Amino acid sequence: MKTAEITLDKDYRISLIDKRLYGSFIEHMGRAVYNGIYEKGHRTADSMGFRRDVSDLVKEIDVPIVRYPGGNFVSGYNWEDGIGPVEQRPRRLELAWNSIETNEVGINEFAQWAKLVGTEVMLAVNLGTRGVDAARNLVEYCNHPSGTYWSDLRISHGVKEPHKVKVWCLGNEMDGSWQIGTKTAEEYGRIACEAAKVMKWVDPSIELVACGSSSNHMPTFPQWEATVLEHTYEYVDYISLHRYLGNTDNDLGEYLAQSVDMDEFIKSVIATCDYVKAKKRSKKTINLSFDEWNTSQSCRINYDKKPEPWMIAPPLAEGLYNLEDALVVGCMIITLIKHADRVKIGCLAQLVNVLGPIMTQNGGPSWRQTIFYPYMHASRYGRGIALDIKVNAPMYETKAFGDVPFIEAAAVLDEEASEITIFAVNRNQDEALALKGNLNGFEGYKVKEHIVLDSKDPKAVNSAEHPDTVVPHTVEIVHEDDIITVLPKLSWNVIRLQRV
Ligand code: AHR
Repeated sequence: MKTAEITLDKDYRISLIDKRLYGSFIEHMGRAVYNGIYEKGHRTADSMGFRRDVSDLVKEIDVPIVRYPGGNFVSGYNWEDGIGPVEQRPRRLELAWNSIETNEVGINEFAQWAKLVGTEVMLAVNLGTRGVDAARNLVEYCNHPSGTYWSDLRISHGVKEPHKVKVWCLGNEMDGSWQIGTKTAEEYGRIACEAAKVMKWVDPSIELVACGSSSNHMPTFPQWEATVLEHTYEYVDYISLHRYLGNTDNDLGEYLAQSVDMDEFIKSVIATCDYVKAKKRSKKTINLSFDEWNTSQSCRINYDKKPEPWMIAPPLAEGLYNLEDALVVGCMIITLIKHADRVKIGCLAQLVNVLGPIMTQNGGPSWRQTIFYPYMHASRYGRGIALDIKVNAPMYETKAFGDVPFIEAAAVLDEEASEITIFAVNRNQDEALALKGNLNGFEGYKVKEHIVLDSKDPKAVNSAEHPDTVVPHTVEIVHEDDIITVLPKLSWNVIRLQRV
């Protein structure tokens, strides 16, 4: 059996991981909100209409933060439509997704759901059709304690305590022609700066995310980031990154290697932020919010084949993820962990139904997709200090990225529990690989558990009828000299070591 080698050193640390790296995203799109987290009349619905079976799955992941309410949706959204008595809320044509928005769920309901599942809300403001005024009013409505028009209006809606929303996105994908109210970098930079300034005047404790490019494949990338930051540097804390991968050429080797592109994307954005920092002679560092990431392989949005227009909660960007997709999600989350010194927020897009790790049937069951598992494992076992892991693994050749190692890996140290978790994907389609470990300074650490997600059939999926086709299992621990364990071919691995 071929071997791969990893080296860790107790003194080589990347950074303490911000737990918000394991966040997610819920948009008013398709069946994410309506018939996703919320379905009045469902047998598991609580008094508010939130599905308990879905909330339980969200809690199982332990999602630390959820971005809301969009996405493309937010660029046409009047947040005031979603407050006050539900029966008086307007129905609107929702132009981002060609649907009807009933506004049954708005900021107060969503904040209540967030409390229920133990997560923090990350709110986006509309800088497409609206601007500074609506943004500052929303901050006042959500975060000001009382005694002003908007805060007292919130109280009159039955919400005494402010929501204390900490992180705010200044619009969404404003560089994209598909966005309602698309802008040039100059136009966006100016409005984002003014909105940011005034939002922080209302609540100086908030953190702000400026829109970066919709992906590194946009023609305006990375000049967009440079221009936007030149305008907003003083007021913002993060710049956003979005990236969806896909097996467009039906070539698994290429597909599995695409996290290399995500890695390059992160490095380029860091370089651009630091270029503007140098240009401005600033002491402040802008961090990264990777607030939309996933593979969209099985959920590609087909803009030519839109569903019937003006439906409520039409199924959009839904599909069943297979094992291959789960491995790609694993590689993506490993890439985020490896950049934990600069990527502070990450949002798997999205959480339920729309590109979701959690799926539901209207009136029926909910289940875990294959991609649920790497995401849940990272969120549960990936809290602590990201270690600077060195991987020496056999390589394979790709068309797009040259030679790529078969093993993608990251390591996280939980100092308090004296535990190290290694996350690893074996991209090898034919062979298992033995994993050797040099654990410098971690004497006495031994493998206590090795969890594997793999499948005889890489195209296998979980469905409503067969929810447990691809599920993680533990494997026997190898105790042979410096071999830590064996990574099965095409597998996601969580190797948990503890000091004995
Ligand atoms: O997550 C689906 C959509 O993808 C979001 O609305 C948008 O921001 C991105 O293009």
